[in-house]
Amino acid sequence: MTAYIIGFIIFAAKLINMVFFQGKVVWLTGASSGIGLAILELLSRQGARLIITSSDVSRLNLAAEKCILSGAECKILPCDLTDSRQVSGLAAKALAFFGKIDVLILNAGKSQRALTIDTSIEVDRLLMELNYFSNVIITKEILNSMKANGGGHIAVTSSITGKFGFPLRSAYAAAKHALHGFFETLGIEERKNGIFVTIICPGRVNTPISYNALLANGESYNRLDKGQENGMPAELCARKYLRAVQKKKREVLIGNKEILMVYIKRYFPSIFYKIADSIKST
Ligand SMILES: NC(=O)c1ccc[n+]([C@@H]2O[C@H](COP(=O)([O-])OP(=O)(O)OC[C@H]3O[C@@H](n4cnc5c(N)ncnc54)[C@H](OP(=O)(O)O)[C@@H]3O)[C@@H](O)[C@H]2O)c1
Repeated sequence: MTAYIIGFIIFAAKLINMVFFQGKVVWLTGASSGIGLAILELLSRQGARLIITSSDVSRLNLAAEKCILSGAECKILPCDLTDSRQVSGLAAKALAFFGKIDVLILNAGKSQRALTIDTSIEVDRLLMELNYFSNVIITKEILNSMKANGGGHIAVTSSITGKFGFPLRSAYAAAKHALHGFFETLGIEERKNGIFVTIICPGRVNTPISYNALLANGESYNRLDKGQENGMPAELCARKYLRAVQKKKREVLIGNKEILMVYIKRYFPSIFYKIADSIKST
């Protein structure tokens, strides 16, 4: 009897996981590659109504075609999120597709591979525009409509580099740290109004992120880092990501053993700095 009850509970939980996003309008940025593309595949299988954003129209079209083939509705909304003039007004265009946004997933981003001393201020600003300000602009423009609809959920992709500094990532880490200040505050302010905020902090996930990471002069790094290659599969990260949203978690760490560094910094800072200082940074 107990086995039947446990079996039924597991079955019911799986069923809820499979239908949670069904019919929900989800706007996903960074949907053309890596973690975002894996999230998109899961959402389209669940029957979410999708709006997807990235800067590359052809990659967006390919992603949308796949969604539509699997039976989901999917609209593309291309934008270069480093350009705040293009980002302003983007939320109104997103709202025009289905009349509302239930879930906003702010996932687009770029990393960095350059020492602080070498990194041009233009690269600092670009990484801040993309990884921080675009998310702030979109969020501010969507909040009132979410509240008018009775609530909604905003998830933002930070990084474990949003929890500590790391060599060759000064601008990236700065932007990801900034997300925590902004979105944690927003979550505290708006939870009572039915707006839930989840900050996702991946460790290393196997995606092309290091290819697109910026060098000191703004050129792409164009290499797959070993750490990236050995990272968690993007599909597994995406499943954990959506589970965290579904459970209305405020913040989650997703990754393999590298996420222990967050706890080491919190509880044993001197050990953290010994490890961090020993990381090869040239
Ligand atoms: N992979 C990891 O180990 C890891 C770890 C921690 C955090 N993260 C975070 O996870 C998120 C997704 O990264 P990923 O690993 O999936 O990397 P990815 O495969 O390189 O995907 C990045 C996404 O962001 C979009 N994007 C980049 N520049 C853009 C721009 N100027 N305008 C609009 N969209 C832009 C890309 O689309 P287009 O190129 O088509 O524009 C792509 O869809 C990022 O926020 C990243 O910081 C990743």
